[in-house]
Amino acid sequence: MDNAHIQFSDRKSDIDLNQLCNLFDIAAFWAQKRNIEDLSIAVANSEPVITVRDCEKLVGFARATSDCVYRATIWDVVIHPDYRSQGLGSKLVETVLSHPRVNRVERVYLMTTHQQGFYEKIGFERNTTTTMVLYNQSHFNSLHQQVQFQKLLGG
Ligand SMILES: CC(C)(COP(=O)(O)OP(=O)(O)OC[C@H]1O[C@@H](n2cnc3c(N)ncnc32)[C@H](O)[C@@H]1OP(=O)(O)O)[C@@H](O)C(=O)NCCC(=O)NCCS
Repeated sequence: MDNAHIQFSDRKSDIDLNQLCNLFDIAAFWAQKRNIEDLSIAVANSEPVITVRDCEKLVGFARATSDCVYRATIWDVVIHPDYRSQGLGSKLVETVLSHPRVNRVERVYLMTTHQQGFYEKIGFERNTTTTMVLYNQSHFNSLHQQVQFQKLLGG
């Protein structure tokens, strides 16, 4: 396939959230049936957010959250099945890693179920010692009533 017309972008205004939902439904088992409202909040609160487009068609996506110095985490890396094995996935991750909010961070984390080999080729190492997860924070809601948070998350 000729990739000369494939565009990488970090402009959030380029993101079509309907296409992003479809891409996740097709190709991201952990991100099925996400809704537009929640996705727009996740995009607004992530930086960088990188899209890969073939003309107007969204064919790849990745985002990161970062404190710009100590820690960053990469999320939701996906390439459309028709566009895989052409180097786009590694270029997508490298674009996230080269962004000014990520490129001087001490440690960059990500979680992956099946793609360890792909990330190892980019330079990531397996790390079984430091990861924990909390699945449901609903029992923390009562704390909201006691602590006045300064600002609500917004899209
Ligand atoms: C993982 C994914 C993004 C890779 O995208 P891609 O465009 O096919 O990747 P690339 O073509 O850039 O591959 C780069 C290299 O990694 C290799 N590679 C790709 N997937 C691999 C895997 N699972 N294990 C080992 N190597 C892998 C490729 O063979 C290639 O090697 P080469 O440089 O020697 O040719 C894509 O397969 C995908 O979207 N998968 C579904 C979503 C997913 O699982 N995302 C990761 C969530 S953490």
